[in-house]
Amino acid sequence: MELRDALAQRHMVRSFSTEPIAPEALGAVLDAATRSPSAGNSQGLDLVVLEGPDRTARYWDVTLPASRRAGFRWQGLLRAPVLVVVAADPDRYVARYGEPDKARPGLGEERSAWTVPFWHVDAGMAVMAMLLRATDLGLGALFFGIFEHAAAVASALGVPEDRELVGTVALGHPDPNLAATEGHGRSADRPRRTDQIHHGTW
Ligand SMILES: Cc1cc2nc3c(=O)[nH]c(=O)nc-3n(C[C@H](O)[C@H](O)[C@H](O)COP(=O)(O)O)c2cc1C
Repeated sequence: MELRDALAQRHMVRSFSTEPIAPEALGAVLDAATRSPSAGNSQGLDLVVLEGPDRTARYWDVTLPASRRAGFRWQGLLRAPVLVVVAADPDRYVARYGEPDKARPGLGEERSAWTVPFWHVDAGMAVMAMLLRATDLGLGALFFGIFEHAAAVASALGVPEDRELVGTVALGHPDPNLAATEGHGRSADRPRRTDQIHHGTW
């Protein structure tokens, strides 16, 4: 697929078939994340890959207790054969920007000095690379937030305490039984802004 087509066709998929992802395809999507740009080449990104129903169930057991599951809007999301939890390592950026070739005032000392936390920027770039590669391979993907469940997910998956969970990428084959507009998020139908690009001045 041409890059322009992947960019045009990419959209969030919230309902999947149960078909597993071929190992080479999953490997290619994960590889895209590790090849994405990284501030100072800090590479403070880790991915916890949950493959197959037994492992993905560990995620849903923590974030969506049985009592709430039946009423969950995105039942097809629970079928996603792979969930990738995206973790950032802020201290790695602080350490990197404390090195002599960087040494920006404050950035090498503490996280709070960063007006733009580059560990979040890097994570976003990595996620976008995964989403595009998934589209390229005919797979569906959704990036979604972990919100108040971050600590519980980190604990259940053995993520070190100094990491920040940025979100989760669900991957799989799009549900073939779904009408084109079903599975759209509440946000997807919001009109696209046409005033975002400011040439020369705001
Ligand atoms: C940072 C970020 C967080 C998001 N969180 C969620 C989420 O928690 N649940 C969800 O269903 N979609 C989530 N989305 C998907 C957006 O709703 C979606 O990207 C937007 O509506 C545009 O639709 P499209 O990506 O299909 O073009 C998130 C997207 C981003 C970039």
